[in-house]
Amino acid sequence: MTDNNRVIIFDTTLRDGEQSPGASMTREEKLRIAKQLEKMRVDVIEAGFAIASPGDFESVKSIADTIQDSTICSLSRALDADIDRAGEALVNASSGRIHTFIATSPIHMKYKLQMDPDKVVEQAVYAVKRARNLVSDVEFSLEDASRSELDFMCRIIEKVIDAGARTINIPDTVGYAVPEEFGFTIKQLLERIPNADKAIFSVHCHNDLGLAVANSLSAVSFGARQVECTINGLGERAGNASLEEVVMALRTRQDVLGLHTGIDTTQIVPASRLVSSVTGFPVQPNKAIVGANAFAHESGIHQDGVLKHRETYEIMTAQDVGWNANKMVMGKHSGRSAFRARLEELGTTFESDAELNTAFARFKDLADKKHEIFDEDLQALVSDTRASHYEKFMLSSLSVTSQTGETPLAKVTVSMNDVEQTSEADGSGPVDAAFKAIESIVQSGASLELYSVNAITSGTDSQGEVTVRLEKGGRIVNGLGADTDIIIASAKAYIHALNMLESTEEKAHPQV
Ligand code: KIV
Ligand code: ZN
Repeated sequence: MTDNNRVIIFDTTLRDGEQSPGASMTREEKLRIAKQLEKMRVDVIEAGFAIASPGDFESVKSIADTIQDSTICSLSRALDADIDRAGEALVNASSGRIHTFIATSPIHMKYKLQMDPDKVVEQAVYAVKRARNLVSDVEFSLEDASRSELDFMCRIIEKVIDAGARTINIPDTVGYAVPEEFGFTIKQLLERIPNADKAIFSVHCHNDLGLAVANSLSAVSFGARQVECTINGLGERAGNASLEEVVMALRTRQDVLGLHTGIDTTQIVPASRLVSSVTGFPVQPNKAIVGANAFAHESGIHQDGVLKHRETYEIMTAQDVGWNANKMVMGKHSGRSAFRARLEELGTTFESDAELNTAFARFKDLADKKHEIFDEDLQALVSDTRASHYEKFMLSSLSVTSQTGETPLAKVTVSMNDVEQTSEADGSGPVDAAFKAIESIVQSGASLELYSVNAITSGTDSQGEVTVRLEKGGRIVNGLGADTDIIIASAKAYIHALNMLESTEEKAHPQV
């Protein structure tokens, strides 16, 4: 029996989320996130855009080969080669979906596609039929729907449903819609399209005006039954609707909306932490649901109220969204198999004994410095170990002197293709000095776009997780480093970003 009040959660962190500048992820990192999304009971995981590059294809394929409980989806333009590549990546999926799209707004059809509307309809129908020959589950998106004409949308949607599309996605591609208008569009589409009952209507909202979640909720209140969203609201430009906000709004205000999802909400905070640690995009402290302050009460009046009766100032519990997952899991006496078992529970498997041994040695080092090791520490340790495995540049040693009234000085040794070079530099602070010393060896010419440090757990013995964003020739990469010493973490993050700039894999962007 189908449940008309169930909203399907379609997570696109690994596809639209990866379109955030600098958020590109490796195959292993994507698989780790996909496992967490499956654990959270996400209905559909958009694993990537298979034709974008050989690496993207391999990522979609390995996720499709591994994940059992969520539907795995690959994006494809309405082009033969894209659709076939998506189908190929999904062959072993226990449940696979091809998501094909074409732009439908006058501005996109005229300037981007340079196609007339009749041709767009023809190509959309052709693409859906081709995809249906490969999988039974086909989604069709009308790119830039919120700036498309209603009559044209009705026409193309009716035709693609006849051609076999079972999900129709209405994206607010440029984040232009406002909630009432967007909800009303969904209502009209459902009322006017004669075969609308043969498909699920979905929405995919961008956050350019900060309205992505509000628009998604308005759409479901008018009959949409799938929401496309991302962990931490990651995504192109200002991002996508944030999964945690959509899910918790539906759950907390079920009294008004009368809808629910199948998400295990206690997995939300672990998912948020994992995505942040893998991508290097920190979560702002006041971010709803997953920000460090989301359940912290500062004012005395609030604290007093919460102590007397929690509901005076709290509409959800921290436990509901998984904040209690921050348990002490290990210490310096924990053994290799306990270490491996805990990481497997967190979605990380080691490809070889050598990789496990390296990570375990780093765990022991960390346990010597830090008394209590939390899940977040383990995740950062794995991200850091994988970021610093053998590549062109490696940090061999770093020493910094910093003293009141003196200019900080850094001495760094970097190995470049196994040849060590040492350099010294001063700077306005120890991090600045370390980066200048590295740059004088490497001479990358890259410009520093962002530098951020985050304490992974509480306490002064916490590991600092550093993100360094570099830009060179229009390419943007994020480097990550973690260490209890934040100067070392910073140098590692800088070296990681430099190594990423060395990678030459070209990637096609679906919407360009
Ligand atoms: O924003 C958008 O329109 C998209 C589509 C490809 C679904 O990401
Ligand atoms: Zn998008």
